[in-house]
Amino acid sequence: MNILVTGGAGFIGSHLTDELILTGHHVTIVDNLSTGTMKNVNDQAEFHNIDILDKEKLAAVFDQGHFDIVFHEAAQTMVPYSMDHPVEDAELNIMGLLNVLENCRRYHIKKVIFSSSAAVYGDNQKVPIKESEPLKPMSFYGLTKITAERYLQLYYENFNLPYVVLRYSNVYGERQGSHGEGGVVFVFSKALAQGKDLTIYGDGEQSRDFIYVKDISQANIAAMSENVPCGIYNISTKIETTINALKEILVYFAGTAVQTTYEDARTGDIFRSALDNSNAIEVLKWHPKTKLMPGLMATYAYFQEEESH
Ligand SMILES: NC(=O)c1ccc[n+]([C@@H]2O[C@H](COP(=O)([O-])OP(=O)(O)OC[C@H]3O[C@@H](n4cnc5c(N)ncnc54)[C@H](O)[C@@H]3O)[C@@H](O)[C@H]2O)c1
Repeated sequence: MNILVTGGAGFIGSHLTDELILTGHHVTIVDNLSTGTMKNVNDQAEFHNIDILDKEKLAAVFDQGHFDIVFHEAAQTMVPYSMDHPVEDAELNIMGLLNVLENCRRYHIKKVIFSSSAAVYGDNQKVPIKESEPLKPMSFYGLTKITAERYLQLYYENFNLPYVVLRYSNVYGERQGSHGEGGVVFVFSKALAQGKDLTIYGDGEQSRDFIYVKDISQANIAAMSENVPCGIYNISTKIETTINALKEILVYFAGTAVQTTYEDARTGDIFRSALDNSNAIEVLKWHPKTKLMPGLMATYAYFQEEESH
């Protein structure tokens, strides 16, 4: 199939592109390289250095591409940035999405698959959180993700543009940066690879649901199927891992003795977090295959290798 991946030079988009190309699809990428890099771009993909806010250039890509499916990964992904820059966050995460959706509508795309986030739930202690739980975002980032989901639903109801929303938990893996929601894995891995001490905010007993990026790619691929109805699916492991446990595992892989300093918890940080993935398992016929240990080992090895260059 002909596929467009927006944000295909980024962490998740580049892994997804690799997997799509491996399975025989033709992939076009639109990315302005603001957080992504050419190093991540698969050389068999067609690459366009374009801002999704640039209506004319984006329309020209759709005009030539004859796309069947669009994966929308390009976004402002940083929660703290959204609090300092709500306008820029909304411009990219809402107006950017609308530019993509208008083209999807005009060019009769068969399905658009959107990356949403656990940030839509806010601090809900009914862990693991189901999709039906109330949405109470604590950040503008979470709010723009909910708004984007609602746009997708209305585009479907009004223009018959099929969609799937995937709400990811904390994604980690090779190529990740410090900014995303699984950023702590990057921060600890980098520090350990450089033999630097670690800082934990709070007592370290706060938990997150860490999911390996290749399982995210597989969930996106599962969502392409015609058998998957339009809807919203949590993509997660359903398992809570504390920050202290994560640290212990990474320190073990690094084999280095470093100091850990505990500082005051950051305001706005959620204490417990895990998403219920039962719907995705049942409907997408997908499940997370990578256990935390092998996933973290591959990720740490990647950052260690990067450091050695
Ligand atoms: N990483 C996580 O843990 C996580 C969790 C939940 C949801 N998500 C969502 O998944 C998606 C991908 O996130 P990621 O972690 O790969 O982030 P990323 O920053 O690595 O990738 C985003 C990509 O979009 C590109 N981009 C940004 N602004 C653009 C613009 N105006 N025009 C064109 N391209 C632009 C960037 O250059 C980058 O390559 C995002 O929508 C994010 O909100 C990520």
